[in-house]
Amino acid sequence: MSSSPVIEVLDEAALPARAAGMIASKLREAIDENGTAVLAPSAGRTPTQTYRALCVTHANSLDWRRVHVVQMDEYRGLGPDDPLSFAHYLLAELVQPLHVGGFAHFNNQAGTLIRPLESYERSAGTIDLVVHGIGRNGHVGFNEPGSPIGSGCRSVRLAASTLQANFATEAERCRCREGLTLGLRTLRAARNSLLLAIGIEKAAAMRHACSSPPSNNCPASRLRGCRNLVILADPAAASLIAPREQIRSGRGATPVRSRHRPDPLAGLG
Ligand code: GLP
Repeated sequence: MSSSPVIEVLDEAALPARAAGMIASKLREAIDENGTAVLAPSAGRTPTQTYRALCVTHANSLDWRRVHVVQMDEYRGLGPDDPLSFAHYLLAELVQPLHVGGFAHFNNQAGTLIRPLESYERSAGTIDLVVHGIGRNGHVGFNEPGSPIGSGCRSVRLAASTLQANFATEAERCRCREGLTLGLRTLRAARNSLLLAIGIEKAAAMRHACSSPPSNNCPASRLRGCRNLVILADPAAASLIAPREQIRSGRGATPVRSRHRPDPLAGLG
């Protein structure tokens, strides 16, 4: 895959299969090269159908015992048994159904970090593939607006807009005011990055991420310039991005990369 970023626009119905195919192929590549693959998956709602497509279509297309899942972000104080936790989601959607070989999670409970964040970050090593979602405010992982490009693994106060987007009730928001996240430094160092965006709520963040000058205000814009970045978006999420920056794929069609497409993202970041 070229190191130039690509934005592919697909129907919401076609996106999960395309994303699942890419994930499987990148993990297979890493396993072929190194014997193992390290995957840092988003635990937002966006990738749910993608993970289900992985479970249905790719359960046997690679050796999942060789895949190590590293948790990208979590609510501080929530352990894997808590249904609100990202660890709980990843166990249910990815780790258990695919019988992955390892799952490193933040291992925090009752507000106490059992494992220091620096050691957690070190153990992640270089990630083979990050599957990103994007927050409505442009966050990636829990790197909220204002996050420095070189930030490490840390505990962060979550933005009010993040809590609003992620929870239905005030009681839940009160429990989850702080997040733990791999920093932009580690995420940007991944060998491959896949950014998924679905829905009109993500359109403004996607415009900032893809078309405005990269800045701390939009942490997703810092993915530009990452190695092997691919962006998959549905038409709603891509609706504020100039058509010349998009590659449109019809349902079931094989995406075609335009030779004349200006590369608005290359070399930035
Ligand atoms: C969440 C998580 C991210 C996720 C993003 C989008 O708050 N911190 O890991 O990618 O925001 O979430 P969703 O896909 O639910 O919109």
